[in-house]
Amino acid sequence: MGILEIEGLSKTFGTGELAVHALQDISLCISAGDLAALLGPSGSGKTTLLLCISLILEPTAGTIIFDDETIYSNGWTDIDLRRLRREKIGFVFQTPNLIPFLTVRENILFPLELVGVNRHKAEARAMELLEYMEVAHRSNYLPAFLSGGEQQRVSVARALANKPKLILADEPTAALDTVRGKKVMELLKKIAREHQTAVITVTHDVRMIEGFDHVYHLKDGQLNSSSDILFNYDPSRQ
Ligand SMILES: Nc1ncnc2c1ncn2[C@@H]1O[C@H](COP(=O)(O)OP(=O)(O)OP(=O)(O)O)[C@@H](O)[C@H]1O
Ligand SMILES: [Mg+2]
Repeated sequence: MGILEIEGLSKTFGTGELAVHALQDISLCISAGDLAALLGPSGSGKTTLLLCISLILEPTAGTIIFDDETIYSNGWTDIDLRRLRREKIGFVFQTPNLIPFLTVRENILFPLELVGVNRHKAEARAMELLEYMEVAHRSNYLPAFLSGGEQQRVSVARALANKPKLILADEPTAALDTVRGKKVMELLKKIAREHQTAVITVTHDVRMIEGFDHVYHLKDGQLNSSSDILFNYDPSRQ
């Protein structure tokens, strides 16, 4: 059984003539420690899919089973979505979205304190994560004093704070140059392998996804999973 199983997932925005079928009958299964890439042109539904998986956006139909619990079955089940999001899912956005008036260290402490980890343990965990992401030397700085690559590594550290079972990343390398982007992607790979965290990441850059376990391609809200697509994929046509 996978950590995440999605069956027949659909999302329609609006109704009648204005309806946009952003996701249509999506099925996928991801195991603990898997790395999955989500490719597809602008407007194909990538962010919508991540938002449904992160339990932020309510789908229109289908099933989501996460960590052996049915979360959505043609409607949310009566599971505490906020608890699941806080404890089991980490999100990395296209831009780092750090809290500007908190130091790097405090940005990591924040999600730990939300789930009630005591200060002493939270401090130790924050420093361990910043070292793991190779930004510990920046722990007492405000985010604005860090480079884009450093900020994104802090945001990955924040996503990891509560040892999530699933990390969702929406173009985490889009704002970075190739070298820094590659480094963030390498760190996501390391997390998946060393902590058995499943990682789903949106990217436009096929050079970033070497060694991934799944490559999904979205087009007009429909999913294809095939190595042929990767083989024939031409990023210049995006
Ligand atoms: N809140 C919304 N209300 C109405 N339509 C929406 C909403 N969010 C997304 N859409 C539509 O759903 C479709 C998929 O959008 P989505 O943001 O998931 O695409 P994407 O693949 O992430 O694109 P990009 O690469 O540009 O980020 C688009 O046609 C978009 O206009
Ligand atoms: Mg998007």
